[in-house]
Amino acid sequence: MSDFLELAAKRYSCRNFSDRPVEREKLVKMIEAARLAPSGCNAQPWKFVVVDDPKLALEVAETTKHLGVNEYLTKAKAFVVVLEDHAVLMPKVAKMIDSQYFAKGDLGGAALSICLEAESLGLGTCMAGLFDRPKLCQLLDLPADQRFFVVIAVGYPANEREERPKPRKKLEDIARFI
Ligand SMILES: Cc1cc2nc3c(=O)[nH]c(=O)nc-3n(C[C@H](O)[C@H](O)[C@H](O)COP(=O)(O)O)c2cc1C
Repeated sequence: MSDFLELAAKRYSCRNFSDRPVEREKLVKMIEAARLAPSGCNAQPWKFVVVDDPKLALEVAETTKHLGVNEYLTKAKAFVVVLEDHAVLMPKVAKMIDSQYFAKGDLGGAALSICLEAESLGLGTCMAGLFDRPKLCQLLDLPADQRFFVVIAVGYPANEREERPKPRKKLEDIARFI
């Protein structure tokens, strides 16, 4: 197995974090990984708000307790809030498609880079796509029409990394080699 495949297989959505705080340097490295992600027309339609202040982190966690899910994220020691920014595409491309056409895919790549870098640094992460957007805007002093992608909970896993099954579709069901 390549080193990368090993890392990709090891990463999982961590939903139980220890009390150990997350070092600021590690959070910076995770954002650096996102900064290097590819994007359509290299538009980089992303911004990140990194929250490691304990009181504010708890308040961010509260916004993810949305529709009765994500109770467990209150134990996360930090959050990376992934924001969708306006994408400026190359003029030729902009004539053909909406400016945000590639953005969600670009943001997915950036968010995964954050999670994989975290994994390589011994941290656990869990993306949360369901959260109270108006409350989060208020909390982080963002405009009311701010577009979001996900909130990423970060922390050291509470338990020794257990081997978790990865329920995934079979390779032959998702890819065709011709
Ligand atoms: C865009 C996105 C949104 C997600 N939202 C949530 C969420 O709100 N709560 C949660 O517990 N997990 C969430 N997840 C995690 C998925 O449930 C998880 O990635 C999937 O079940 C595969 O498991 P694994 O990450 O452990 O490999 C989200 C993942 C993605 C990519």
